[in-house]
Amino acid sequence: MAKIIINGGKTLSGEVKISGAKNAVLPIMSATLLCPGKFTIHNVPDLRDTRTMMQLLEITGAKTSFNNGSVTIDSTGVNNPEAPYELVKTMRASFYVLGPLISRFGKVQVSLPGGCAWGPRPVDYHLKGLEKLGAKLDLEGGNILAEAKELKGADIHFEFPSVGATGNLVMASVRAKGLTRLYNCAKEPEITQLCEFLNSMGADIEGVGTDKLIISGVKELNQADITVIPDRIEAGTFLMAGALNGEIKIKNIIPLHLKKVTDKLIEVGCKVKIEASSILISPPQKINSIDMTTAVYPGFPTDLQAQWVALMSLSESSAIVTDTVYHDRFSHIPELARLGANIKVEKNTAFIRGVNQLVGAPVMSTDIRASAALFIAALAAKGKTEISRIYHIDRGYEKIEKKFLGLGAEIMRES
Ligand code: EPZ
Repeated sequence: MAKIIINGGKTLSGEVKISGAKNAVLPIMSATLLCPGKFTIHNVPDLRDTRTMMQLLEITGAKTSFNNGSVTIDSTGVNNPEAPYELVKTMRASFYVLGPLISRFGKVQVSLPGGCAWGPRPVDYHLKGLEKLGAKLDLEGGNILAEAKELKGADIHFEFPSVGATGNLVMASVRAKGLTRLYNCAKEPEITQLCEFLNSMGADIEGVGTDKLIISGVKELNQADITVIPDRIEAGTFLMAGALNGEIKIKNIIPLHLKKVTDKLIEVGCKVKIEASSILISPPQKINSIDMTTAVYPGFPTDLQAQWVALMSLSESSAIVTDTVYHDRFSHIPELARLGANIKVEKNTAFIRGVNQLVGAPVMSTDIRASAALFIAALAAKGKTEISRIYHIDRGYEKIEKKFLGLGAEIMRES
């Protein structure tokens, strides 16, 4: 089982180029199933999840290839509207094929995604929305079977601004008959880019970037190319690594997507120099303990909650971190405790007492962002940390040890 070994305590310095956004490219890749065509997607991160999505598209009959940062997808031959359990269970985002496949074929079979490391991940908003558009749904052997002679536009109000449900239902409705109005939509930049991509394919989506999307069904869609936006979660992860371990510059980013994060890091005492497509962060003498509550965009992202907890574990006094998006996303806490962090969890809140020092130990990754938190903490810890089950981190961070090596970390992968 591969693991990463980090000798902590080194001061980081230098520059790191941020890769394309995983959570933007996954729905964009699914959207190519909507119509036959040859699509090229640029600035794609080479991750387990992007490779898994390519596998999934091939199962439906598409042809895919990945060459230095660009993925081409030929969806002409797509003829099998299906997403099997063995893929869906490894990557929940496989569920994104539901909308495009039912739009193109009028039927689709997608395995229900199970839970994930930190708890249940329901898809009821996706399914209720599809039924509103006229789909008939059955659950058989863990698979959702959805059929619709014709999808008809409808008004859909999301109970919660779900990223996945917004993406899936926008894709399901772009060719539905008539008008679909989605209320309380996710406004994450990744969903905004998906809508822009769909409009470049000929869809008619208004209100892009807001929480109300008005989709007028069109007759046909065509091939389009796109360059994926930078990954704001990878960027935020490196900013927090810098806040703890040394002055670093992150490049190829969109600072606006990180506004809430940089505001909080300034409260921590960091010096943050923001330029057009880069941010230079310098660590403070002492890390102020700053409370944080996650929220949907443009709030502080839940995908940076674990990394923030790692940062606060070495802060001056005590900090409270609440996750309002996922109430049970704290599997990183016991592992941080193994490094000496002093944290108590009650319901969806972590109570962190800053300690003077973390000490290296063997720890285990449990999900993509928990792993990132362990990296950040291990880089600051005294001595050696071994991080196992690193397939989690490879799902969402491209060449992570190479990037940290480039910043002066003492890090290696042992297979
Ligand atoms: C996306 O997941 C991201 N994944 C997640 O990032 C991210 O944590 C999440 O959005 C929140 O920002 C991708 O984009 C591939 P949601 P998604 O639907 O779409 C509840 C990472 O590390 N909910 O916005 O699955 C749900 O349980 C990953 O890159 C329902 O109850 O998230 C959660 O509490 C992890 N019913 C909340 O809504 C539904 O039908 C937000 O979930 C759907 C969601």
